[in-house]
Amino acid sequence: MNTPTSAGPLRVAVVGLGAIGREHVDVYAASARADLVAVVDPRPEAVAEIAERTGARGFSSVEELLDAGGVDAVSLCTPDQLHHADAIRLIGAGVDLLCEKPIATDPAEADALVLAAEASSCVVMPGQTLRFEPRYHRARALVASGGVGEVAHGYLRRDNLTSVADRAGGRTSVAFFLGIHDIDALQWITGQRVVSAQAMASGALERTGSQSQAVLATLRLEGGAVVQMESAWNLPGDYPTELDAQLRLVGSAGVVAVTSFDAGMEVASGGFALPMTAGAPLYGMAQGALAVEIESFVSACLTRQAPPVSMREAASAVKVVVAIEEAVRTGRVVDVAEVASAPSAPAEAGTH
Ligand SMILES: NC(=O)c1ccc[n+]([C@@H]2O[C@H](COP(=O)([O-])OP(=O)(O)OC[C@H]3O[C@@H](n4cnc5c(N)ncnc54)[C@H](O)[C@@H]3O)[C@@H](O)[C@H]2O)c1
Repeated sequence: MNTPTSAGPLRVAVVGLGAIGREHVDVYAASARADLVAVVDPRPEAVAEIAERTGARGFSSVEELLDAGGVDAVSLCTPDQLHHADAIRLIGAGVDLLCEKPIATDPAEADALVLAAEASSCVVMPGQTLRFEPRYHRARALVASGGVGEVAHGYLRRDNLTSVADRAGGRTSVAFFLGIHDIDALQWITGQRVVSAQAMASGALERTGSQSQAVLATLRLEGGAVVQMESAWNLPGDYPTELDAQLRLVGSAGVVAVTSFDAGMEVASGGFALPMTAGAPLYGMAQGALAVEIESFVSACLTRQAPPVSMREAASAVKVVVAIEEAVRTGRVVDVAEVASAPSAPAEAGTH
């Protein structure tokens, strides 16, 4: 469908107008190189509100969007388990795709997406937002330069408020929704695959009945290091910050740590808060990791370059989550190779 040129602007649609879809909408709306031309959601009120605010055309499904035409690229921001079918449809129609993480919740579906993306001439990029976080970039550069030495052990944490679990409503797991960020970052920063996992989960939230409050996994990297990962959405509504995240790697020559609990701003006004400032627009310009991610996608589409993160890398993280969940179910140490239906070509395409 699309033959965008570096002249731009890129004609973009956002599919799925929930929490993150609205953020994609705002970034595109502020971008000089993209035009938000369409939005898609089965909820007519969500479509009407955004269409009225932005001037984009509104549709209730990807099929309707494709029938209408006139779109070069899509941000796919639907719930985790729905990505695969629409992603295949969009790539098949020749539309460039920014697919929110996790790209799929099943290894075979993730592999099918990798193969579809690699067989097409579309730009297809997973929304692994930590790849665009300056502190995680710095950590990767340090590890790559040998500044940490041989990584021996580490710790990853990503805790959200219970309201996020409520929003997910039992459709996905905490490891798929949150843990996948840290798994991808760990593999990218260390340059090593996770080869096995053991894990336990705490009981299901009463509200949804079907998802764990927290998963704690011990991950073995291919070089032998062990990394503890905590993924949870159980923080109370009055917790001072909405994201409590950490990365810490300890090696033979040093330590690198990123803490996302405190962004350096404290507010005491009707309660105590540590606000996250990164996503707020500055003088009408989007900023923060998601804005950089989306602008990187737009650049790749306009210049027909490989995007900075590959679907193959994202599929690798999906398989680690599946191994973690299998470890929770069985109480065993699970090899990632056990759950992987490996694609035919070697990994690392498009890695920067
Ligand atoms: N990169 C990040 O930092 C980040 C942050 C949050 C969420 N996410 C990911 O983004 C995706 C969406 O998460 P969310 O928190 O915004 O969820 P959400 O539940 O808030 O929103 C999902 C939206 O998709 C719509 N939808 C459902 N079925 C649809 C369909 N077939 N076609 C079009 N729209 C459909 C829903 O009506 C809803 O508006 C998930 O995959 C999630 O893991 C990524």
